[in-house]
Amino acid sequence: MNTLEKLEEIRKKLEFRPKIDEASFSKIRLKDYTIPEVDYESIDLSTEFLGKKLKIPLVILGWTGGSEYVKQINEILAETAERMGIGFGCGSQYAAIENPGIQNSFTVIKDLAPNVLKIANVSATHLKKENFGVEELNKCIDMIDADAIALYFDTLEEVLKPEGEKNFKGLLEKIKESIPHVKKPIIVKGYGDGITRMDAIALHDIGIKYIDISGYAGPNKYVIEEYNLYKDSYDFSRNIAKVFQKWGTSTVRSILNVSGIYDNSQMKIIASGGIRTGINIAKCICLGANIAGVASPFLKTAEKDVENGKGSLQSIRLIKTFLEELKIAMFVSGSETISDLTVDKIESF
Ligand SMILES: Cc1cc2nc3c(=O)[nH]c(=O)nc-3n(C[C@H](O)[C@H](O)[C@H](O)COP(=O)(O)O)c2cc1C
Repeated sequence: MNTLEKLEEIRKKLEFRPKIDEASFSKIRLKDYTIPEVDYESIDLSTEFLGKKLKIPLVILGWTGGSEYVKQINEILAETAERMGIGFGCGSQYAAIENPGIQNSFTVIKDLAPNVLKIANVSATHLKKENFGVEELNKCIDMIDADAIALYFDTLEEVLKPEGEKNFKGLLEKIKESIPHVKKPIIVKGYGDGITRMDAIALHDIGIKYIDISGYAGPNKYVIEEYNLYKDSYDFSRNIAKVFQKWGTSTVRSILNVSGIYDNSQMKIIASGGIRTGINIAKCICLGANIAGVASPFLKTAEKDVENGKGSLQSIRLIKTFLEELKIAMFVSGSETISDLTVDKIESF
């Protein structure tokens, strides 16, 4: 059985699991080698993505920015990424395009993390606006000296917000037209909803070569909170966001939806959504992802770091934890390098 067939087999088996109730990591297992032919000390966790070397296949992912507090958060996380040799993707830069006065909450990223992989970020829906296009995308890239720009689709959130963009017609065409004029590669990113097969095919067909999964990983309490913020604008008998709390495609299934059709030369994958351990990272890579992305846990550590005022201690500890867990997972699955983490390391089930 070749790699694509094996990935397809795992995807089909997941299809018949009764419920998508979390990122699905517990539904797959890594093979455990009791006698691995591996020297723990020489395990190499490094990889390359978008032309940048990463010490661990990990990128910190985006949160909305544009205030003094977010500047502090970005400072902590950029410093952490540079020190630990991992990537950093910022949150939406739209506010800084609208109001250049707050750009310094983003420019700190290029100042503090000059050497690491950096990903600019803005909602794909802005491309519907008259005054937002290629020029603005390039401004976002320059603002942080990014290696790529992520265009995120917060589809469920847009439809739940009173002022959200509810007409997605023509968006793919706008992205397709932008590709040749944007100075760095475009990554299309989910926002907690994951990626279906149809999404993957549509993106491939317009020339996208990078997908950030952002799979469904559990109740998205933030969407519900956001909805509550706007609830005065509604006249419904209940919080509709709650009804959609379990919407989306799990992270594991989303990776398989992409890697089951396209190999790595056609589509590169950032696996994200509910990644909380180094074992999760190892599983994602075995399933076909290139690197993993983590958002919420780093927001929590960065908040603590800002509060404690002692540098990026908690955020660095979290990375060291991911690193150690990934290294142990690699040892017990007989893997010396990241490229040894293949689908053959997944237990049949
Ligand atoms: C409150 C909140 C704000 C977010 N802001 C952004 C954003 O500005 N841009 C973006 O691409 N994703 C944004 N995300 C999505 C995250 O980057 C990430 O895809 C998602 O939280 C899943 O990863 P996690 O489980 O590691 O948190 C946001 C998520 C939340 C909950």
